[in-house]
Amino acid sequence: MNSDDRWQPQLHFTAPGHWINDPNGLIVHDGVVHLFYQINPHGTDWGNISWGHASGDDYIRWRDHGVAIPDTPEEASFSGCIVNDRHNTSGLGDGGRGPLVALYTGARHDNYVDQHQNLAYSSDGGATWTKHPANPVLPSPRFDIRDPKVFWHEETCRWVMTLVHADRHEVGFYGSANLIEWHPLSVYGDDGCDEGEWECSDLVEFPVGEGGETKHVLFVSVAEGLPSGGSGVQYFVGDFDGTRFSTSEPGAGIRWVDRGPDFYAAQSWSDVPSDQRRVVMSAWMSNRDYAPVTPTVGWRGCHVLPRELLLGRDQEGFRLRQQPVRELDECRGKEVHLGDMSVEGSLTLDDHGIKGTCFELALVLKSAAGSLRISVLADDAFATHVLIDADAGTVSLDRRSAGESFDERFARWVSAPLPRSPDGRKIRLLVDRSTLEVFVDEGRVVFSSLVFPPEGADSVRLTAPGSPFQIRDLRFWPLISKATHNND
Ligand code: FRU
Repeated sequence: MNSDDRWQPQLHFTAPGHWINDPNGLIVHDGVVHLFYQINPHGTDWGNISWGHASGDDYIRWRDHGVAIPDTPEEASFSGCIVNDRHNTSGLGDGGRGPLVALYTGARHDNYVDQHQNLAYSSDGGATWTKHPANPVLPSPRFDIRDPKVFWHEETCRWVMTLVHADRHEVGFYGSANLIEWHPLSVYGDDGCDEGEWECSDLVEFPVGEGGETKHVLFVSVAEGLPSGGSGVQYFVGDFDGTRFSTSEPGAGIRWVDRGPDFYAAQSWSDVPSDQRRVVMSAWMSNRDYAPVTPTVGWRGCHVLPRELLLGRDQEGFRLRQQPVRELDECRGKEVHLGDMSVEGSLTLDDHGIKGTCFELALVLKSAAGSLRISVLADDAFATHVLIDADAGTVSLDRRSAGESFDERFARWVSAPLPRSPDGRKIRLLVDRSTLEVFVDEGRVVFSSLVFPPEGADSVRLTAPGSPFQIRDLRFWPLISKATHNND
């Protein structure tokens, strides 16, 4: 199946066709960036769930390699991770070289409740996979338990796995010397949103400041309960002592990685070279409320642009900051620089060459009062709006008249506090056909959103509904699409 759909993003990962959901098995290995993903190889609805595989050099341009870990007549291959078993702790290596090891959830097609953890390994850098004869390596405890994410814990010299105990709203920690035999270590679930099943956890260590201090961030997707509706990804900041995770900020309230409606099942890349000092993360760009009915043709589902995460601290405590991967800068076409400007009433930027369906727009807000509306993918009737209300101290995304509206839960207006920063407020928008990502103030607030604009809606419009609004340094770049889906 190959699609030719005007909504298919140019820079965001999509499969050549078919249904996709979560990113899986994200790892950098021998300089190659690998991205595996949940796919239905036979259709555009969820089902026959298998792992697809793509690889690339820069987190943006991907070569697709088709199905890597198929489902079987008995069970689906649900989400999971890949680690490099470089010291061959599993004994599954070939010729002294450790294998890549995938841990993933097997879920029986007939009830999906019998969820157990499987292992597959690859001795050719991820091209081909062998399922371990002793599967499952962690049998089903008869409750929903899934989405293993594994890392090597140096201090205790063992592998550690996080697994969601989905309907108990817990993350279980498990330990292993060899990736094959696993034993429980502890459970975390005292805090957070418990309105829906917990899915896809990930424990990541972040440097904090320059003094060598680190903190662990536990990411957990939750199927219901995002303030703007449906599914989202929450995070907890704390410490992991090799056995147990405890939060540094008990009772801090729920923290969402992304305030937009379409960021789910997030996973970080393993083995990003340490000299890059960055955590890189991807996520399924959809919401459980309407993912099965998005109106695309021949394909369904994409991932967010991989993003770099930092952990900072301000007066309110620890906070993530996020930016699209720096490699995106290489996709920029010729810059249009409008510099400082005053917006009075409504202004369409077509005459300045600022229009399109795949672009980046960056600006700094100068006015400390009033409001500014940035409308993209606009025509006379439809547009997606980002509204900065400096008086109310909020930033909002309004896609109620963005275009195709196929489900009442899709038409949303979502809002978040505008961060107070001494250095003006930087707004960065990435538009890619049916996707919009908004990064506010160096990524202190992020909105990721799907939109399905009508054909030809490609204008950018600025509106100051009240008094004139001052902008500092407006820049625009078309983003140059690339040949994706270069099957090998
Ligand atoms: C999250 C999820 C995972 C599961 C996979 C199945 O979107 O439900 O918990 O492993 O998708 O496709």
